[in-house]
Amino acid sequence: MGGYGGTDLLKAASAGIRAPSLHNSQPWRFRLADGTIEVLADTSRQLQVADSGGWAMRLACGAATYNARLALAVISRPADVVLAPDSHQPDLIARLTPGPPRPATYPERNLFAAIARRHSHRAPFWPDPVPADVRVRLLDAARSEHAWLELLVGMTALTGFSEIAHSADRVLRRDLHYQAEMITWTDADSAADGVPSLADATVTEPQDLLPQRAFNDRRRAAGRDYEPEPLVGILGVAADRRYDQILAGQALQKVLLTATDAGLSASMISQPIEVPSAREQLRRSLRRSGYPQLALRLGYGQAGRLTPRRDVSEALVPVAARLP
Ligand SMILES: Cc1cc2nc3c(=O)[nH]c(=O)nc-3n(C[C@H](O)[C@H](O)[C@H](O)COP(=O)(O)O)c2cc1C
Repeated sequence: MGGYGGTDLLKAASAGIRAPSLHNSQPWRFRLADGTIEVLADTSRQLQVADSGGWAMRLACGAATYNARLALAVISRPADVVLAPDSHQPDLIARLTPGPPRPATYPERNLFAAIARRHSHRAPFWPDPVPADVRVRLLDAARSEHAWLELLVGMTALTGFSEIAHSADRVLRRDLHYQAEMITWTDADSAADGVPSLADATVTEPQDLLPQRAFNDRRRAAGRDYEPEPLVGILGVAADRRYDQILAGQALQKVLLTATDAGLSASMISQPIEVPSAREQLRRSLRRSGYPQLALRLGYGQAGRLTPRRDVSEALVPVAARLP
């Protein structure tokens, strides 16, 4: 069997663009190159203030790569994947080459089906605890993609995380350039990117354990408090190079899809990763080797709505016209 073709590219990219990204910036592109599918970082969509180093862009592209892998697996054309294959092309995130054809496994089918349902869920969850077997599935999902997920157990660990997250949030709120950039990505309900005002974000109330992004100035209805003991997971990987951040993105997406498949909702919290001193504090508090890459809040919530995406055609790199 030959390389991938245009139809495979479209399937992979259509799944890829459903990945999460900081402020829904969608910093990815997909290219067909000699029968391989390449995932590229779109630096024109990189957040210049919040993500000057490109960490969030690479996480998003890693997550898009994981979705593309699933899309190719479910059409029985699973990919051999090389991450960051060319040191001379730093924007080249992954190259997917057809591996031996085989039918998709049940887990691959279930995770692929979850792509269309997964979305960030920022509203309060019900207080029901996440059962042990589901927690194990989440831990396994991270591990199978070369990452770790630290689930914070007990109020002491949660309060410690809460303090770090709130102090990072305060630093970012004081940064006028940061806030100005965020505003350009929020509240545009008609846009195909950015965070819509309807994405159930509300302002942080004094009793909230975790900080919310100031995406809008809406307040929660009285009595609609957050779950008192949320399940918070910190996703991390062994190091913090470009390659590791792509790995983290793939693992992030596998954890999120596993959560969706298990009926869980999730939101992402990155303030304590974006502020270097907070990230270092978080890293030390976890007492494990490696680097935290993102925090997740997981639980049972009412299904919300999907966040829009640009049309897939906008994320495809046109095949270069061949010379005769
Ligand atoms: C690296 C990264 C950091 C993120 N940080 C936050 C955050 O701090 N707060 C938040 O509410 N959402 C955060 N998100 C979620 C994005 O806002 C969300 O993925 C995007 O708006 C698309 O929406 P969706 O997840 O519903 O598809 C983050 C996502 C990524 C990939």
